[in-house]
Amino acid sequence: MKNIQACIFDLDGVIVDTAVYHYKAWKRLANDIGFDFTEHQNEQLKGVSRIASLNLILGWGNVTDKTEADKLELATRKNEWYTEMISKMTPAEILPGAREFVQSCRDAGIKTAIGSASKNTPTILAKLELLSFFDAVIDGNSVTNPKPDPEVFLKGAEALHVAPSACVVFEDAIAGVEAAINGGMKAVGIGSPELLKEANIVVSGLDKMTLEMLEEL
Ligand code: BG6
Ligand code: MG
Repeated sequence: MKNIQACIFDLDGVIVDTAVYHYKAWKRLANDIGFDFTEHQNEQLKGVSRIASLNLILGWGNVTDKTEADKLELATRKNEWYTEMISKMTPAEILPGAREFVQSCRDAGIKTAIGSASKNTPTILAKLELLSFFDAVIDGNSVTNPKPDPEVFLKGAEALHVAPSACVVFEDAIAGVEAAINGGMKAVGIGSPELLKEANIVVSGLDKMTLEMLEEL
C-alpha cells in the first residue's frame, strides 16, 4: 500500500450503531421537558457533541429559559440514561465487516485509529472488546474543537506519526467528512451518497470496503 499509511475511523455509526441509544435517551429527556422530536431530526445530531446536540434539541422544542447550569444538568441526565444502555452492549453489536476491515488494514501494515466526538468512547470500545485493537484512540475527552474542525483527526495522524495526506478517514456524518477534508485527508463516507457528497467515495458499510478501494482514492 504505497499512498495510504493510516486509516482513522469514526466510532458511532461506523464501527457501532449507537445512534439508536442516543435517540432513545434524548427523546426521553425531551419528553420529560414536555415536547418530542422525530427520528428524522435525530439525523442532524450525528457527529455533533453532547452539548451542541442538547442546544439543537432545546431549539426544536422552543425551550429558551435554560441557564448554562440547567443545560449541564440536562446533558448529565441524558448521559446517565445513555451509559446505562451502552453498558449492556456486546461485541455482537459491532457493525458488519468493521472488525474484518480494520484487521485487514493492520495485516497490510496500515496504522489504525479511532477519531470520535464521544466522551464515552473508552466505555464503548471496552464493551465491544476492541480497546487494544487500534493503534491510537482520540475522542471527545482529548479534543476542544468539534468536527468539522479537523482537530480530532489531526491528533490521530500525529499519534500515528503519519502525514495527514497519507490518512483516510471513515465517517458517517457530514461534519465528520468535512473535518477530514479540512485536515487534508481523504474521506470515505459511510451511508448515503446524497448526504455525504464531499467524500471521495461512499459505501453503505465497512463490509463493502476493500484494500484495493483504498489504493484508488
Ligand atoms: C458522536 C455521536 O460520535 O458523539 C453524537 O455521533 C454524540 O450523536 C457525540 O452526541 C458525543 O457523544 P457523547 O457520548 O460524548 O455524549
Ligand atoms: Mg459518527
